[in-house]
Amino acid sequence: MPTQAGTISAIVACDENNLIGCRTGLPWRIREDWKWFLNHTKGGACVIGRLSYEAMLNGGTVSNGQRKYFVVSADRSLAGPHTQVFGSTMEAVDAAVESGLPVWICGGVRIYEESFPQVDKLYITRIHNKYEGDRYMPDWKEWFGPVEYRRDSSENGIDYTFMILGRQHVADRASLAV
Ligand SMILES: NC(=O)c1ccc[n+]([C@@H]2O[C@H](COP(=O)([O-])OP(=O)(O)OC[C@H]3O[C@@H](n4cnc5c(N)ncnc54)[C@H](OP(=O)(O)O)[C@@H]3O)[C@@H](O)[C@H]2O)c1
Repeated sequence: MPTQAGTISAIVACDENNLIGCRTGLPWRIREDWKWFLNHTKGGACVIGRLSYEAMLNGGTVSNGQRKYFVVSADRSLAGPHTQVFGSTMEAVDAAVESGLPVWICGGVRIYEESFPQVDKLYITRIHNKYEGDRYMPDWKEWFGPVEYRRDSSENGIDYTFMILGRQHVADRASLAV
């Protein structure tokens, strides 16, 4: 589902307890979900926290220039050919929108929380399992609800569901559970 320039989408994978991370890495290894992330964010402007960015840097994803990174950090030395650094989430989101590219909110926890009021769609992969870890997705049900896309899949015995959620309508906020 291509995204238009200027749209703001958040993208995340979480387990049945809304766990997203474990010691600066992902608690699971699901190639299809990583491809889902790469395919959607390709050509986009990624707003991302330092620890999540460093994980992508170490994984070699940053250097291919297929995405622009708007990193939130006090460490300005992270700036590079594909990377700008900002002191707050809102500054990074504003600059990403200014870039004219589709904007992707890529975490971590505070980045999701602070950007949800401006996000149009939530791309969430629900992994039907429970893992150990230390980073949890902030509550999104106030902001997102209607399921616009859903596909079940599995890899190496792990079942998961790709979903795209639209903005929650004020009236429905209390009713919808995902
Ligand atoms: N499952 C998923 O889809 C997914 C997605 C993203 C991340 N993760 C996982 O989540 C973990 C990382 O998340 P995290 O929340 O711990 O870290 P993070 O947001 O990636 O990085 C935290 C750092 O980013 C900067 N930062 C973040 N929010 C800020 C804000 N609002 N204002 C100013 N600076 C801010 C600060 O950098 P400075 O200290 O340099 O100032 C902070 O120390 C890792 O385990 C990662 O693998 C999982």
